[in-house]
Amino acid sequence: MGRGVMVGVTVGVAVAACLVAGVVVGKRVKSRRKWKRVMGVLRELEEGCETTVGRLKQVVDAMAVEMHAGLASEGGSKLKMLLTFVDNLPSGSEKGTYYALDLGGTNFRVLRVLLGGQGSSILAKDVERQPIPPHLMCGTSEDLFDFMASSVKEFVEKEGNDSESSVVKKKELGFTFSFPVRQTSVLSGILIKWTKGFAIEEMVEKEVAQYLQEALIRKGLDMRVAVLAYFSLLIYSEQVNDTVGTLALGHYHDEDTVAAVIIGTGSNACYVERTDAIIKCQGLLTTSGGMVVNMEWGNFWSSHLPRTSYDIDLDADSPNPYDMGFEKMISGMYLGDIVRRVILKMSQESDIFGPDSSRLSVPFILRTPLMAAMHEDDSPELTVVAGILREVLEISDVPLKVRKLVVKICDVVTRRAARLAAAGIVGILKKIGRDGSGGITSGRTRSDVKMRRTVVAIEGGLYTNYTMFREYLHEALTEILGEEIAQHVILKETEDGSGIGAAILAASYSSSNSVDTDTDTDTVQPL
Ligand code: BGC
Repeated sequence: MGRGVMVGVTVGVAVAACLVAGVVVGKRVKSRRKWKRVMGVLRELEEGCETTVGRLKQVVDAMAVEMHAGLASEGGSKLKMLLTFVDNLPSGSEKGTYYALDLGGTNFRVLRVLLGGQGSSILAKDVERQPIPPHLMCGTSEDLFDFMASSVKEFVEKEGNDSESSVVKKKELGFTFSFPVRQTSVLSGILIKWTKGFAIEEMVEKEVAQYLQEALIRKGLDMRVAVLAYFSLLIYSEQVNDTVGTLALGHYHDEDTVAAVIIGTGSNACYVERTDAIIKCQGLLTTSGGMVVNMEWGNFWSSHLPRTSYDIDLDADSPNPYDMGFEKMISGMYLGDIVRRVILKMSQESDIFGPDSSRLSVPFILRTPLMAAMHEDDSPELTVVAGILREVLEISDVPLKVRKLVVKICDVVTRRAARLAAAGIVGILKKIGRDGSGGITSGRTRSDVKMRRTVVAIEGGLYTNYTMFREYLHEALTEILGEEIAQHVILKETEDGSGIGAAILAASYSSSNSVDTDTDTDTVQPL
C-alpha cells in the first residue's frame, strides 16, 4: 500500500470517527435538552403544588371563615354546612341489634351490629360488601335501589330466626348515604347533587330515604307485612352522611371526639357545632345545645389553594366543573388522574416515555391505589413502577431515572393533598376554638391557652391504606399547630364508621333505647 493511500485511509477513518462522535454528541445534547424540558415540567408542578406552612395557615383561616359564612346564611359559602339534626351522639351504653346500609363511593354494604351496652363493647358484627356495578351509578334510581334492596333481603334472610336479633320486635336501620343531602330531620333529607361519579338526575332534589323504602317494599321487604311471618319487624330508618357515622363511632369509643373526616374516594368532614352559632337557622333548639354539621368540605374553595394547570384541566373535563374543587385536589378519586396528566404532559414534551401510548390519554386509567403503589415502591430497581407503567399505561422499558421521576410526581401530588387535608382539619379546630390560638386575641400567648384533649375521628382508604399520605398529613398538622398544641390533637382512625357508626346512631335514636331506662344516650356536648 502506498503512502498516499495510507494517509487517505487514516483521514477517512478520522472523518468517520468525527462524524460518529458528532452524532453521539448531538444525540446527547438533544437528550439533555429533552431532559431539561421534562425537568421544567417537574419544576413547574412543584412550584404549583407548593404548600409552605404560611400558605397552609392561609388555607386554615379561609376554611374557618368559610365555615362561618356557610353557617350565617344558606348559600353564604361554597361550604354547604348542612344541618344533620343529629344532636345525640352515642356514648357506649347502647344495647341491642341494629342494622345499617351504606352507600358510599365504590361499594355498597349491609351491616348488622350487636351492642353490649356496657362501655365500648360491640359484641358482634356482620358485614357484606359489594362493589356497585358502574352502570348503576348512572342508570335509574329504581335499578340502583333494587340492587341494594336485594342485598338487604339476602342479608336479613341469611340471619335465620334463631339469633338474638330475631326475637327483637323491631329492626332499626341506619342508612348511610355519602352524598350531599339537605336534611329536614334525622329521618329524611333531599339530595342536593351527586358526587364521586354518580349521576342519576331524577333523584336530585328528591327525598332519598323514600327510594330505599320503596325498593324494600318492591323486593318483598315490606317488613311490616312480608317478613313478619318470622321476624315481626319494622324498619325505622335514619339517614346519615358517612362522616356523621364516623363521628358517631368515634364518640362511642371516645367522648372527646369533636369532628370526623373522611379521605377516601371522596372527602368530607363534620363536627359538633353550637346551635347558637348556626345563624342561618335561628331558634334551632336541641336538648344538648349542639348539632352535628356536615360541612361538605369537598366543595371548599379559596384563592389560597395551590392550583395547577392539571387541576384546571381535570376540573374542566369532569362531569361537575367548578364544583368540589377541594375534593378534586385531595381525594382518592382524583390523585391518580392528576399524576396521569403530568406524565402525559411530559411525554408530549419529550420521548422519555418511549413512543406515544394511547393509554396515557384515557381518563382515570391510573387509579389512585396504583399511584400509591408506585409512590411506595421501595425496590431498588423500582420494579412496581415499571410493572404499572407497562401493564396499565403500556409504557415499557423506561430507564430507572424515568421511573424515579414518576415516583417524584406521585410524591408532589400526594404531599400537596395530605397537607391541604391537614389544613382543612386545623380550620375546623380553629372554628371551634380547639387549635390553641383562642388566647391570642385576648392578649394571651399560645402557650397560656389550656388545650383540651381533642379527638378527630378519621377514615377513608387514602388515609388508612396510604402510609406516605398519612405521614405527610400528620407532619403538616404538627407544622401548622406547633408541637405543643399538636400533642393535644389526636387523629383516631375508626374502622367502618360509615357503616357501624350509622347502626350505632340508629341505636342512639332508637325508640327501644329511649324507653330502655338503663340506656343513657349522651348528648352532643356544647362547645
Ligand atoms: C360527598 C360527601 C361524602 C364524601 C366522603 C363526597 O364526595 O359529597 O357527602 O361524605 O364524599 O364519602
